[in-house]
Amino acid sequence: MASQPKNVGILAMEIYFPPTCLQQEVLEAHDGASKGKYTIGLGQDCMGFCTEVEDVISMSLTAVNSLLEKYSVDPKQIGRLEVGSETVIDKSKSIKTFLMQIFEKHGNTDIEGVDSTNACYGGTAALFNCVNWVESASWDGRYGLVVCTDSAVYAEGPARPTGGAAAVAMLVGPDAPIVFESKIRASHMSHVYDFYKPILDSEYPVVDGKLSQTCYLMALDACYKSLCNKYEKLEGKQFSMTDAAYFVFHSPYNKLVQKSFSRLLFNDFLRNASSIDESAKKILAPFESLTGDESYQSRDLEKTSQQLAKPLYDEKVQPTTLIPKQVGNMYTASLYAAFASLLHNKHNTLAGQRVIMFSYGSGLTATMFSLKFNEGQHPFSLSNIASVMNVAEKLESRHEFTPEKFIEILKLMEHRYGAKDFVTSKDCSLLAPGTYYLTEVDSKYRRFYAKKAHENGQVNGH
Ligand code: ACO
Repeated sequence: MASQPKNVGILAMEIYFPPTCLQQEVLEAHDGASKGKYTIGLGQDCMGFCTEVEDVISMSLTAVNSLLEKYSVDPKQIGRLEVGSETVIDKSKSIKTFLMQIFEKHGNTDIEGVDSTNACYGGTAALFNCVNWVESASWDGRYGLVVCTDSAVYAEGPARPTGGAAAVAMLVGPDAPIVFESKIRASHMSHVYDFYKPILDSEYPVVDGKLSQTCYLMALDACYKSLCNKYEKLEGKQFSMTDAAYFVFHSPYNKLVQKSFSRLLFNDFLRNASSIDESAKKILAPFESLTGDESYQSRDLEKTSQQLAKPLYDEKVQPTTLIPKQVGNMYTASLYAAFASLLHNKHNTLAGQRVIMFSYGSGLTATMFSLKFNEGQHPFSLSNIASVMNVAEKLESRHEFTPEKFIEILKLMEHRYGAKDFVTSKDCSLLAPGTYYLTEVDSKYRRFYAKKAHENGQVNGH
């Protein structure tokens, strides 16, 4: 019988994104958008995407296998495996079951958990499930493992530059360097049609871009208000932006993250929080009487609060933006890729600090929650997590494609989506050793993957 677990949270992380990408500046020119629209207007630098040999299953296989290997975790030590994804490959068979290939080889089939789906929120649901399991009476002393993975692709049009692709794997257990402050958590869930995928023979969503932006900000306000109230009841003092060292947001594109952070500042102003000094109060006073709806429409408020929030944004948010700006919206993986950016940039100074996370999935589901850092013990230390993820090298070693080539690949993927009886090019020349890739979908729609050999190693089929 396992003893009562303490400090449950994230012990280890790995991130995988495709080595293939497209510069936003180049895409902007190709699309005939005005100069600066994608780079300054959306705030994005580059976009990662899967070619025909990669998908959410191959990316997940790569991330899970790499995490187990690099942290020397025995696959038999995993007791729960949860996947968050909104990329539909099979309406019945979960991505989790594909990942079982890694564990079956080691004689471990006793692993609970399946996939969670609701737009970009599924990864957070999967993470909560694993944390709750470790904290529950049914925990058997083994680790939980969470995978957030998506390939975000949009039809031709204004949403296309907000795509991306990645898989993030996270090991969950007690005595973690990244601990859940489970009481400091607030959700907002509601029925709206801002982004959804009713067309089952297409990978592309139906999206009301403007509505999705407003829904995101409304959900953020609701979660922040509720989190502040809960904190105040619990701690007997007010919560404000100064109570967290960092804020990590689900990141469809960076401009929305900038707007979100300034929205928190406006919330602090309305709550008369100590984070807002007298000069900021004077500047924001003209906006105090706006109704909620008016405040979402006010360009003046947006501009003013963004300017006021800029120094705090640079300190508390900018270190979380690296991967989302470079890879794009990774849907369920987006929030955790932003978190990985923070670990990459600040792992030496995080111990003792609090970070507030905001997860948003259209439709809509949203949660704001709090994490606290400890130094951790090798291999589960903050510095080792940063070194395993090796973010800078992964970003630098990518290959840039032209928009023409990107569009050609998307056309092929449209044709292949839901199709059977094809073999891929099996061209894994751009993939790093150890990366899984799709080789074939047979006449019964069964998918087959191989792993690119390490030097002098063997290629393994799945
Ligand atoms: N230089 C600098 N900035 C520019 C330029 C330029 N040349 N041209 C436009 N801009 C600015 C605009 O002013 C705007 O900034 P603002 O929001 O501060 O006003 C920004 O660039 C985007 O321009 P828009 O005209 O608003 O863009 P458009 O409506 O064509 O598309 C959108 C943007 C709606 C985000 C689209 O990409 C989309 O639908 N994406 C998918 C939906 C999405 O990501 N929603 C977010 C939450 S839900 C989720 O995570 C999927």
